[in-house]
Amino acid sequence: MSVTKPLPHDAAPLHVTGAARYVDDIPTPSGTLHLAFGTSAAAAGRLVGLTLDHVRAAPGVLDVLTADDLEHDADTSPSNHDEPLLCTGDIHFVGQPLFLVIATSHLNARYAARVGEPEIIKSKPILSIEDALAADARFEDGPRIYQKGDAVAGLKEAVQTLSGSITMGGQEHFYLEGQAALALPQDNGDMVVHSSTQHPTEIQHKVAHALGKPMHAVRVETRRMGGGFGGKESQGNALAVACAIAAARTGRPCKMRYDRDDDMIITGKRHDFRIDYTVGFDDDGRLSALDVTHYTRCGWSMDLSLPVADRAMLHSDNAYHLDDIRITSHRLRTNMCSATAYRGFGGPQGMLGIERVMDHVAQHLGRDPLDVRRANYYADVVQQRAAGAAIDNRPIPDTGADNASRGADPAPTQYRRDTDVAPTRQTTPYHQPVTDCIINAMTDRLMGSSSYEERRALIADWNMAQPVLKRGIALTPVKFGISFTLTHLNQAGALVHVYQDGSIHLNHGGTEMGQGLFQKVAQVAASRFGVPLEMVKITATDTGKVPNTSATAASSGSDLNGMAVQNACDEIRTRITDHLAERHQTRDITFLDGKVLIGNEEITFARAAASAYENRISLSATGYYKTPEIEWDRIAGKGRPFFYFAYGVACTEVVIDTLTGENRILRTDILHDAGASLNPALDIGQIEGGYVQGAGWLTTEELVWDADGVLKTHAPSTYKIPACSDRPDVFNVALWDQENPAQTVYRSKAVGEPPFMLGISAFMALSDAIAACGPAFGDVQAPATAEEVLRAIARTRS
Ligand code: MTE
Ligand code: MOS
Repeated sequence: MSVTKPLPHDAAPLHVTGAARYVDDIPTPSGTLHLAFGTSAAAAGRLVGLTLDHVRAAPGVLDVLTADDLEHDADTSPSNHDEPLLCTGDIHFVGQPLFLVIATSHLNARYAARVGEPEIIKSKPILSIEDALAADARFEDGPRIYQKGDAVAGLKEAVQTLSGSITMGGQEHFYLEGQAALALPQDNGDMVVHSSTQHPTEIQHKVAHALGKPMHAVRVETRRMGGGFGGKESQGNALAVACAIAAARTGRPCKMRYDRDDDMIITGKRHDFRIDYTVGFDDDGRLSALDVTHYTRCGWSMDLSLPVADRAMLHSDNAYHLDDIRITSHRLRTNMCSATAYRGFGGPQGMLGIERVMDHVAQHLGRDPLDVRRANYYADVVQQRAAGAAIDNRPIPDTGADNASRGADPAPTQYRRDTDVAPTRQTTPYHQPVTDCIINAMTDRLMGSSSYEERRALIADWNMAQPVLKRGIALTPVKFGISFTLTHLNQAGALVHVYQDGSIHLNHGGTEMGQGLFQKVAQVAASRFGVPLEMVKITATDTGKVPNTSATAASSGSDLNGMAVQNACDEIRTRITDHLAERHQTRDITFLDGKVLIGNEEITFARAAASAYENRISLSATGYYKTPEIEWDRIAGKGRPFFYFAYGVACTEVVIDTLTGENRILRTDILHDAGASLNPALDIGQIEGGYVQGAGWLTTEELVWDADGVLKTHAPSTYKIPACSDRPDVFNVALWDQENPAQTVYRSKAVGEPPFMLGISAFMALSDAIAACGPAFGDVQAPATAEEVLRAIARTRS
């Protein structure tokens, strides 16, 4: 069976040879025009004049558009209708598009965009959290508050209390392929748009609106993205809308792609946060109460900030069971690019808050932070049920990244099944019961395989002996909720055709951004028909084939589209089965290895398809799926927003240079829960990539805006993402061998975002190394750049 096989990404040979086609590689018809935005150099104020003579006179320029030239309302917001394509008077951030250049080449357009002369009456920008609070600049009337129990009373009664604060920076997506779109005008003003987007339906919707047409006049196609990471859920809207408007005006194909610096300046990034906390606990580090406040800088428009801030609140518990907790969240409006979705969607920020609390409490008590973490874990339901009886201690399947030969086809992992999971009373701060917890068992296993205790002792000895270099180690958990918190988004559709030669055309609403979704879903289709994977053709996402799709986001791409495809395939398989049953007078029919076994007879799948066709049986079907059992009231902060949780544990060892603050990850061990993995090779790739990206967020990646709201770090020269050489020297990644107790596609679990938060272990390991430098709490802030590590060392010594 094709599912569970560790097959390479379907486009891997194309990726590594440079043959994979992205939007900018699509051969364009002659006469294609190119676009660029002229942007604001001021962060706040009024646009009172715009002289475009030099722009119009620049080489190759056909036309220049301002907001006044737009026939219809062109808005690019995914939520609040607060993002006019071109400035309508108010200046909101540095990089805001003011006018649109239409020219004969990409370089002509870019050159002309630089020579506009906007006249702006500047005002003082709102940049910091303090500025925004003082001006009461926010996106909801007041802060949002979720609570369980009574945090205030709990803190009064606590044996001990501590207060603190952690700031954490944002993060540039740094997808390798920048934002890009291409619009091709059709008959009667219809439009076909190729867009590098995680959300083709949103592009269709926004383009149709800007053209003043119904959605049926616009078809959007996305074959693949060169990375999205959340940065292409909404940030591609402006380019696609601009291309469509220009194409409608000129009648010619129009293309736009941002240059890297423009991309970094114009598009939104991860939200930065400050999290303040007061925590109550006993002498063993068991938390009794927590009052935590999130301050998040959302930038100039609403975009996806409300659900991002919600998800941060929903991960304020991470893997810890808390009785008295209050979470307060301020969603602040600032004069910066509008912060947007980024892998984890607020979850990492919320989680880093509680992990800091655990670290702070442990350092205060002089205990191993892992002991404090474990004292607060949710109970494992599996352990409770088994009461020592049925815990499976078989070794972890050998899918280790460094050891496994990925091309080969190792013996399939035997996934353990937990059918009668007992309900427990433990609930999250948003009152969802936690019934699938496995974090204790996972921690036990990773402690063993990473030799955590032995290494902690060795590190302590080493640190005593070493005056300059200090090492640190940390083992941290992840529990991540799977489902869109906006419940209606948890639906998907598919379209499957079987041709008369038995080959299969596969389409669904998910998009491919490198995560391997298309391959996983093709494996599902091949398995349903019992055919080799080569029989299944993976095709581009297309709003004309599957309508009304959700963004490929919230890690739910394979959960949702895998199920929709399964349903479509099963519909066709049932029709073929019924047809063959009637002909052969038996229902003993099996689809296996490219054949159909009918009683004692055997025919090829191709023959079965041809037979169905000849007997006028439809071989095309749509499939549909919606996630069951979820309901959520985001205002009250109560319900069951998540279908299930994905879990993981990571242990990271680092070394720091106390003279320079430089640091390295020496070793990382990960045990991650992908349920019954649809494809262990792709899942391990997601885990490795997610971890490194998460560690990058918390270590080297630093966004710096100056006092005028200008982003100073807008290129790889100043913004440092992890390089290949920053990968841990020793990197052991294994998959947990238990299937998802929830009924997901082949009992797999979503894997796209959860491993990102395993990177928190690198940050906590740095905190541990800093703790070896002096008696006080180092209070390291994120990102822990070399400079910040030095500052934190100074604080521990003071
Ligand atoms: N992996 C790669 N290679 N490229 C990406 O852009 N995006 C991440 C994750 N893994 C991403 C990735 C994000 S933010 C999400 S939500 C999921 O993939 C989306 O895909 P899925 O739902 O199919 O897991
Ligand atoms: Mo991912 S941030 O949900 O696109």
